[in-house]
Amino acid sequence: MKHLAVIPGDGIGKEVVDIGLEIIDAISEISQFNYDAELFDIGSERYLRTGELLTEEDISDLKKKDAVYFGAIGDPRVRPGVLEKGILLNMRARFDQYINLRPVTSWHPFVPLKKHFDFDICFIRENTEDFYMGAGGTFRNGSRTQVNVKRELYELDMNIDTRSSSDDDFAFEIGMLSEKGIERFADYSFMTAEKRGDRKLTLVDKANVCTSIYGMQREIFSSKAEKYDIELEFMYVDAMAMAMIVRPDTFGTVAVPNLFGDILTDLGAQLQGGLGMGASGNINPKGVSMFEPIHGSAPDIAGQGKANPIAAVLAAKMMLDHLGHEDMGTLVQNAVRRCLDNGMYTKDLGGKLNTKEMGAEIKKEVLKG
Ligand code: IPM
Ligand code: MG
Repeated sequence: MKHLAVIPGDGIGKEVVDIGLEIIDAISEISQFNYDAELFDIGSERYLRTGELLTEEDISDLKKKDAVYFGAIGDPRVRPGVLEKGILLNMRARFDQYINLRPVTSWHPFVPLKKHFDFDICFIRENTEDFYMGAGGTFRNGSRTQVNVKRELYELDMNIDTRSSSDDDFAFEIGMLSEKGIERFADYSFMTAEKRGDRKLTLVDKANVCTSIYGMQREIFSSKAEKYDIELEFMYVDAMAMAMIVRPDTFGTVAVPNLFGDILTDLGAQLQGGLGMGASGNINPKGVSMFEPIHGSAPDIAGQGKANPIAAVLAAKMMLDHLGHEDMGTLVQNAVRRCLDNGMYTKDLGGKLNTKEMGAEIKKEVLKG
């Protein structure tokens, strides 16, 4: 029996998570997968009501679960950054979900490239370090700033002083990588490449500019590479963005630091047919992992039945894989494929279905086995 936590969150999060849960339920009818699901009221509504983002009680309740199924957060009534940092990034950090898995698959006919490419890229985005540590500050009139970041692996504590020759203000944001953080990221990346049977692993960075952090990352990846029969390829992020458009079929497993990974995987989502197709898993291999569509809460279309639930369904597929039911994960993926082949899809893809109809079609295909 698996215990799932469900956090629908904001906007279309609720609608798409409902569909994902219907699919999980259908899977439990036809397989050995048994589960219960507890709903968590975490998101903008509660924040606006009580001022709470992610409480210690939430954390201790979520820690008891086998996995978290997450919708989306974001609300125009709340200042940008508050919910993102206070809930989503906080969760990734507190549960030490140091890997963000983001598959990029050529879901034809929605690949928007002129030339036909078949691709199946597995992006492994580092998920706790780099420029996402929240280590920044703003100096006004030569003030001091205290930076304190506590992570599973280390604590960063800095007292920073700036003096300006003028009245100019400063702002800064620190990107940091730790040896242990890079090592576990490299291990996971090589192991994934091996499991997938990829001959090479691509590491994306900007080691020609951010020489300290990405230089160290290259060194550690290179020394890990000696243990594997896998070629390690380095790509600068700018070149990678271009290569994803002109030769996406030449990549297999791609390891990418947090900030660049955020950007490249939106590009990846678009390559596979749009944000409505992109799923992700925030993974802690020894702890609680969290699965979510990569799209946001889309407040402009929330509550209208327009959202494409496929990304959320594919996130549920990743959760099934993670919980040891890969056969059922594959079944869900195949069911989605058959819907697309049958011309059954939502308006964002040029189809006619609304959110619920799309869900019903996927469910019908899932139940065929
Ligand atoms: C993502 C999102 C988040 C990120 C935001 C909402 C903080 O864009 O999951 O890619 O930047 O990681
Ligand atoms: Mg993003």
